[in-house]
Amino acid sequence: MYLSSLQIRNFRNIKETQLQFNPRVNIILGKNGQGKTNLLEAIYFLGIARSFRTSCDTVLITQGMDGFFLSGIVVQQHNIQDKIDVFLEDTKKVRINNKFLPRIIDLIGHFQVIIFFPEDLHLVKGTPDIRRRFLDILLSQSDPQYLHYLQQYHKIHKHRNKMLWQLKTGQEGAAISDIDVWDIQLQETSNRIIKARKESIKVLDGLSTGIHHQITTGSEIVKISYKPSVFNKEKRFDEIRKGHTLSGPHLDDMCFQINGIDAKKFSSQGQQRTAAISLRLAEMEYLYQQIKELPVLLLDDVCSELDDVRKGYLMKAVNQGGQIFITTTELDTVRELMDGEYKVFTVKDGLIIG
Ligand SMILES: Nc1ncnc2c1ncn2[C@@H]1O[C@H](COP(=O)(O)OP(=O)(O)OP(=O)(O)O)[C@@H](O)[C@H]1O
Ligand SMILES: [Mg+2]
Repeated sequence: MYLSSLQIRNFRNIKETQLQFNPRVNIILGKNGQGKTNLLEAIYFLGIARSFRTSCDTVLITQGMDGFFLSGIVVQQHNIQDKIDVFLEDTKKVRINNKFLPRIIDLIGHFQVIIFFPEDLHLVKGTPDIRRRFLDILLSQSDPQYLHYLQQYHKIHKHRNKMLWQLKTGQEGAAISDIDVWDIQLQETSNRIIKARKESIKVLDGLSTGIHHQITTGSEIVKISYKPSVFNKEKRFDEIRKGHTLSGPHLDDMCFQINGIDAKKFSSQGQQRTAAISLRLAEMEYLYQQIKELPVLLLDDVCSELDDVRKGYLMKAVNQGGQIFITTTELDTVRELMDGEYKVFTVKDGLIIG
């Protein structure tokens, strides 16, 4: 799968552009603050309908404008082409081959992208919600059924919380027995989510261990384990006291160990960064196994903070054959790591030439 062209209007500092991409390597070159990451963000938005660096869509609109527009042609296996339009006017809208999707979330799975960026470090050392988001995006991109359960779970969880809050605050119309109905549904969807997360983490663990072993030339063993929060209805009275649900997959986490110790607490920043890269490469492999296509890789600033061994391994992995977009401030650093053809785009003050 690859993105063959992209039209961008009023996205961050990119006012109007029409780009044709190389099916393999696209190098995005420019000085700091010119719009390189903005371009990757636009490509990511075309796949996920959200940004990887903000949860607020309106900050993506060029200052002083009313909305943004993205339109890309994605080429799938057997040369099947899809036109994907994602835009924000008063609300966010998505069109595939000129047909509006009833729900934005249904976009996920049409154009698989993976981002590698400096903040990936937080996959290891950050808060659990960052790891849950990682898992949810990956599983949603590979299995529409997962996305369905996840949405169901969020809906039930929200209703149940509302009811607990009503009971806590003594509002009329709320009865403890009403929660039983929600509990049955919560239990069911929660089991499905936990099962999917458990299976995928097992695969990701195996893949990451192998990749990490190679990147660190055998000096480190990384292990990823799942820390599920199994829904427990015995907590009901505490929940009424607090006014919200105290167990369930919305509180899940996963844990990284490097050479047997908890990486979040004890590993160095460099070790955490490498573990995060191993996880991203494992993500790429996982998606490939699931959808039988290489996802598009977006590599933001990845070479600036890695040593040569790790850099070399990363590049070897990304040179496997899929499409990649890589940002850099120096062409030579990236060019020498690429084998085969590539196209260079220069970015200056939001203007992209390629
Ligand atoms: N909504 C917006 N409207 C207009 N300009 C914006 C908007 N959001 C961000 N920018 C501008 O985009 C520029 C930053 O772009 P970006 O983050 O892509 O830089 P970069 O080329 O990746 O730089 P670096 O090499 O430092 O990572 C800044 O000049 C910022 O002011
Ligand atoms: Mg940047």
